[in-house]
Amino acid sequence: MPETEEKKLPFDEKITVEKWKFVSPEEYKSKHKETIKESFWLSIASELDWFKKPQKAYEGKFPFLKWFPDGKINASYLCLDVQIKKGKKDKIALLWIGEDKKERTLTYNDFFKLVNSLSFAFKNRLGLKKGDIATIYMPMIPELPATMLALSRIGVIFSFVFSGFGSQALKDRIDDSGSKIIITADGFLRRGKKIYLQKNVESATSNSNIEKTVVFRRLGEGWLKDKKDIFADDLIKDVPSDVFVEPEEMNSYDPLFILYTSGTTGKPKGIVRDTGGYMTILWATVKWVFDIKDEDIFWCTADIGWITGHSYIVFGPMMVGATQVMYEGTPDYPHPGIWWEIIEKYKVSIFYTSPTAIRLLMKYPEENVEKYNLDSLRILHSVGEPINPEAWRWFFNKIGKRKCVAGSTWWMTETGGIIISHTPGWELIPMKPGTNGMPIPGVSVSVRRQDGSYAEPGEKGFLVIDNPFPGMPLTIWKDDRRYEETYWKRFEGVFYTGDFAVQDQDGYIWVLGRADEVIKTAGHRLGTYEIESALTGYEGVAESAVVGIEDKEKGEIPIAFVILKEGVSPSDTLKEKLKEQVRKVVGPIAVPKDIVFISKLPKTRSGKIMRRLLKAVFTEAKIGDITTLEDEASIEEIEKAYRELKKELGK
Ligand code: WT7
Repeated sequence: MPETEEKKLPFDEKITVEKWKFVSPEEYKSKHKETIKESFWLSIASELDWFKKPQKAYEGKFPFLKWFPDGKINASYLCLDVQIKKGKKDKIALLWIGEDKKERTLTYNDFFKLVNSLSFAFKNRLGLKKGDIATIYMPMIPELPATMLALSRIGVIFSFVFSGFGSQALKDRIDDSGSKIIITADGFLRRGKKIYLQKNVESATSNSNIEKTVVFRRLGEGWLKDKKDIFADDLIKDVPSDVFVEPEEMNSYDPLFILYTSGTTGKPKGIVRDTGGYMTILWATVKWVFDIKDEDIFWCTADIGWITGHSYIVFGPMMVGATQVMYEGTPDYPHPGIWWEIIEKYKVSIFYTSPTAIRLLMKYPEENVEKYNLDSLRILHSVGEPINPEAWRWFFNKIGKRKCVAGSTWWMTETGGIIISHTPGWELIPMKPGTNGMPIPGVSVSVRRQDGSYAEPGEKGFLVIDNPFPGMPLTIWKDDRRYEETYWKRFEGVFYTGDFAVQDQDGYIWVLGRADEVIKTAGHRLGTYEIESALTGYEGVAESAVVGIEDKEKGEIPIAFVILKEGVSPSDTLKEKLKEQVRKVVGPIAVPKDIVFISKLPKTRSGKIMRRLLKAVFTEAKIGDITTLEDEASIEEIEKAYRELKKELGK
């Protein structure tokens, strides 16, 4: 959140709307208190359709906990077979809209059939079996959720790499996960242009352990590199259309997927997600936060490649048999009213999007919204980054017409499901512009000082989760130590989120942004490491440091500081080439807005780059605001570096 807005957050504003029943913050807190016990989660879990119902909440050596350890479950079974058993065979699961306005409608039965054919082919034709790992690198097409459900049906752990990532980012994730198969598509449409995903796959896999590439056709322009590769439609061509693949009975703690996310230092971390705990928190939050009813039309605008899409497009909404909308395109293409047009046309009632998209769309003339009838909407939520009060007001007033619940759900890749929110499907507290609300039932959070003590209301501190919760990670893939150190040691025994937050006098949480060097751009999480490696991988670059700079629309955007090798001269052409390098290697979302050539990077004695100082000098902040920010450096060091930097940047 921009510093200026952060300083005057509307802690005292309480907004209610007519159609909904609200409780006071005190009532919420007292009801919530009752839910902080293990038996609470066990009773929620028992609402799911297990092969074997669990009798225990969790066990194991903290923080490596196994949730519902004696339970047997299958995620694909919950999303498909259970829906059919409940009579939802012909209910529409997905209304898909291509950027080219092509439409496809799939019922639960359509999904069931497609998933069974895919599972059959994955198992019998590709030899995939329980415990194997597969990489998914796919765009937003209906075959994507089908692929995830087909793999989980047979117990194959998938690792999804967002289709916006470039070839090196893809390769690093393939190598780390150790997967031998990649499932992809020939490409997709982005703002009228064809993006050929297979090109990235080829350069990522030419020197890897990948033995097989499966290619779905979206553009109809795919190709096969060699005999080992296969088109997905050929793979399932002669599978009998009524084939049934028995879902594997998984332990609750068996991994469902790995999802890489960026940390402060080093390579991305593969967050390993369990099955039973994850499905339980999704089940609960889909009801409490989204209040999904049988007649609702749900639309989450995220890409499935991020945790938001895994949880609230695929597994969450499908396990309650919801009808969903999925749009291939960007929010303002082919026109800036396209989202509102879709809401009107398909009568979307629950809408889940990002602050960046809201800030982008609120810049367009109002008639882009006014033209459409948005009366079907009843619940609005955003996610991914703090929503500034101004953007929240626009969302609530202009889109929700002051009659919807509008919230900002806080959570992260690591939590699997929503942790802090407004819960219209449980007890609903009044809204406040920009707040995250309160923790969901069964989870307790707090704001701490450096030393672990509790911050006072109104005092900025670090957000932690106080108790173990279903949906917590199993570990970091192949790195138990890093998992424990990163999340459970910063404040002994509680989960460290990496976020700054403040709790107001009513107990509402307001997450302010990252406390570390992770960059959140358009809600996406980027580590500095990958961008810096891309830059130093370019001929002529000696060293680099990347920082996130405040941006009105995207929250933050990366800026790169680059030291060139002796004899290489800075130029605008070189800047463009470096940007192109980042685009290719990491992906379009990581491209720095600016490249600043510099002769020396400010470092602490131990060699750590003072990124906050770079950021501050670049944005012309005062030295007084900086000296408290760098943990490891002395004031003298910082002041000296500050003077040198200012001189060099001519500020
Ligand atoms: C980080 C997690 C959760 C799915 C998408 C992002 C920030 C997320 C909010 C919100 C303020 C938010 C935090 C968090 N964040 N939602 N509603 N208000 N900040 O998942 O990529 O793992 O990023 O996103 O900084 O730590 P992610």
